[in-house]
Amino acid sequence: MRKLILAIILLQFSTQLAAENENTAQLEEKAQNLAAQLAMQLKARLQNAMEAGGPAHAITACNVSAPQIAEELSTGGWQVGRTSLKLRNPTNNPDEWERLTLLEFEQQLASGTPAASLHASTVETDEEGTRYRYMKAIPIGGVCMACHGEAISEDVQSALAEKYPQDAAIDYKPGDLRGAFTMTKILSEDRPD
Ligand code: HEC
Repeated sequence: MRKLILAIILLQFSTQLAAENENTAQLEEKAQNLAAQLAMQLKARLQNAMEAGGPAHAITACNVSAPQIAEELSTGGWQVGRTSLKLRNPTNNPDEWERLTLLEFEQQLASGTPAASLHASTVETDEEGTRYRYMKAIPIGGVCMACHGEAISEDVQSALAEKYPQDAAIDYKPGDLRGAFTMTKILSEDRPD
């Protein structure tokens, strides 16, 4: 009898674990999907603005569009954004988990891991509740150089200085880690009564 009870308890426990794993897999899939959508929409908006008026004009477009696109994708308990160790927009500043993850991505990249496969996830619980979190690395490419590279034209420099007086997001080389997409899903909230 005791063995039977134990078997039932173990079975329940493993079913529960399997459900949690499945849940995490679904969350990861959704987070990856959101990162891909954010990347695609930002790229399209950037491309249009660059074609319409060059990089200095595109800065204004980025300034308005980037936070707007991120907000539009932040539905159903998800929060979507970008972060970096060298910031242009100070509101994108990383929290502790994001900062440590970005440092880890830097190390992994330096030891040969391809940037495209750099991602991390965790489940966090504190007094505010429980959250699932996911980050995906953003490497820098040729098209990014006009606004994040080492030789930035004067009109771009002055457009940047006007909007981002504390800009630190320059001097990158192609292949560097620019930052990461960062997604959070609130799983449960502890609301104060
Ligand atoms: C036309 C200029 C321009 C180009 C080209 C450009 N960016 Fe940016 N980037 C900006 C601006 C402006 C912001 C600040 C947006 C905001 O206010 O949220 C920014 C912000 C970012 C951020 C958010 C972190 C932060 O520092 O605030 C990341 C990540 C980023 N860019 C990556 C890239 C990548 C990768 C490319 C190339 C695919 C790229 N950018 C090309 C202008 C540009």
